[in-house]
Amino acid sequence: MKTDTILVLDFGGQYCHLIARRIREHNVYSEIVSQDISPKEVENIKNRFDIKGIILSGGPQSVYEQDAPKINVGILNLGIPVLGLCYGHQLIAQTYGGNVKQAKKKEYGITYATITKPDELLKSLGKKEKVWMSHGDTVYALPKDFEVLAYTENCPVAAFRHKEKPLYGLQWHPEVIHTENGMKMLQNFLFEICRCEANWKMEDFVEKAIEEIQQTVENRKAIVALSGGIDSSTVTVLTAKAIGKNLTAVFVDHGFMRENEPKFVQDTFQKFNINFIAIKARKRFLAKLEAVTEPEQKRKIIGKEFIRVFENVAKKIKADYLVQGTIYPDRIESGIRKFSDKIKTHHNVAGLPLKIKFKAIVEPLRDLYKDEVRKLAAVLGLPKELVFRQPFPGPGLAVRIMGEITQEKIDIIKKADKIVTEEIEKSGLKDHLWQYFAVLTETRSTGVKGDSRAYGYTIAIRVVESREAMTASFAKVPYNILETISTRITNEILEVTRVVYDITHKPPATIEWE
Ligand code: XMP
Repeated sequence: MKTDTILVLDFGGQYCHLIARRIREHNVYSEIVSQDISPKEVENIKNRFDIKGIILSGGPQSVYEQDAPKINVGILNLGIPVLGLCYGHQLIAQTYGGNVKQAKKKEYGITYATITKPDELLKSLGKKEKVWMSHGDTVYALPKDFEVLAYTENCPVAAFRHKEKPLYGLQWHPEVIHTENGMKMLQNFLFEICRCEANWKMEDFVEKAIEEIQQTVENRKAIVALSGGIDSSTVTVLTAKAIGKNLTAVFVDHGFMRENEPKFVQDTFQKFNINFIAIKARKRFLAKLEAVTEPEQKRKIIGKEFIRVFENVAKKIKADYLVQGTIYPDRIESGIRKFSDKIKTHHNVAGLPLKIKFKAIVEPLRDLYKDEVRKLAAVLGLPKELVFRQPFPGPGLAVRIMGEITQEKIDIIKKADKIVTEEIEKSGLKDHLWQYFAVLTETRSTGVKGDSRAYGYTIAIRVVESREAMTASFAKVPYNILETISTRITNEILEVTRVVYDITHKPPATIEWE
């Protein structure tokens, strides 16, 4: 049986992923595709999925601009229900000849919509609904055959539908939590209009994925780069379930791991009885990084060296297949999104480009979001410490040491990281936090230790809350916990004289310092 699916057409809006995730929260599968998809391409996707509905996302442009993204009208005529959100709402109206113009008064934030026609889309809601808006343009007049379903003080057509075809538009964002009954609205679209079945479940996924891996790899050998992070760990266990000893997991210790990390990874995977090779490559990495201070250069060197080490092992094992823990956002970010800017070169062992030719690259997690990978990991029986551990960057502590990397600095940052981890975990705050770690800055400062002057390193503490890492807020960690961390760091690490707390959100700062 094919999975019921909603296609989300990406018009560049910042909430595109959020729409897709909200749909999946209802156990309905969703797939983000480019806005210029053709009806024929939709037909091709139907080979894998049962497409029950289409959502057009928001976007930064105005539909009446010359180079603004359009929609192939054939998509609107497939007979599949279509819901336009914000830009998508305006685009449907404009495509059929409605009047879309710059709004006399723009709406950003909470607004109240008056529902005049509580049809299937706006069923079981109040007469007035608290909705979240973010638009500078407005639909002023609807095309023939369309009718208004709701309006706001400044927006005469805040929701509409076609009188006969299954075409709908909402000017507001139901996917954003500030739209009080947004989930109900999406639910109406999924189940009342598209008649979806909630058949996207992790247990079924495991079965299907194992079958797919077995069919691809058959009796040959595969290799996986295991970092100990959630994605590569989950894909390792899943693939081992499918092909057993024909899989070899390779763990490259570049020397920028947290304290005890190599042992933790080794112990964990030994329990799963998986072929496991650990490569100690600390000296090799340090040598390559000597005197390098530029952050992007450091990242590139580490990424490249990693591949070299991995390639050597792959050749020895003579594996035909490479298994990668690529997840859905990785695939989307590198594939169809047309408006994103590169902030930093992410090195992720899950995304290895290699010179060695493999028969195929196997990516069993390619359709999953991070929270779905966590669910899958739990279903597969991965230990809790691994499932709920904080994300850790591929280049490791190297991106948390400013300036040149030396063994002395690595030793300091490892000790500081351990203290931060211990204290945050002791405090019970862990479950609300995305990441908590220490950064070794390049600033030295004067201190007094004992009765003598000391001139030492400055450690910055970074603790953030986030859902996706696309945005993050610094966490308001209670002063007494920060005090304990600061006291321990300055007492236990001789070389450190000062500890500061990073109070910057993302944006403008990124989560990691480099
Ligand atoms: P930034 O610093 O870009 O980080 O705000 C966003 C999230 O990604 C993690 N991160 C990485 N993960 N390889 C990875 O696998 C990398 O090169 C990398 N750099 C940053 C970071 O820890 C945060 O969770």
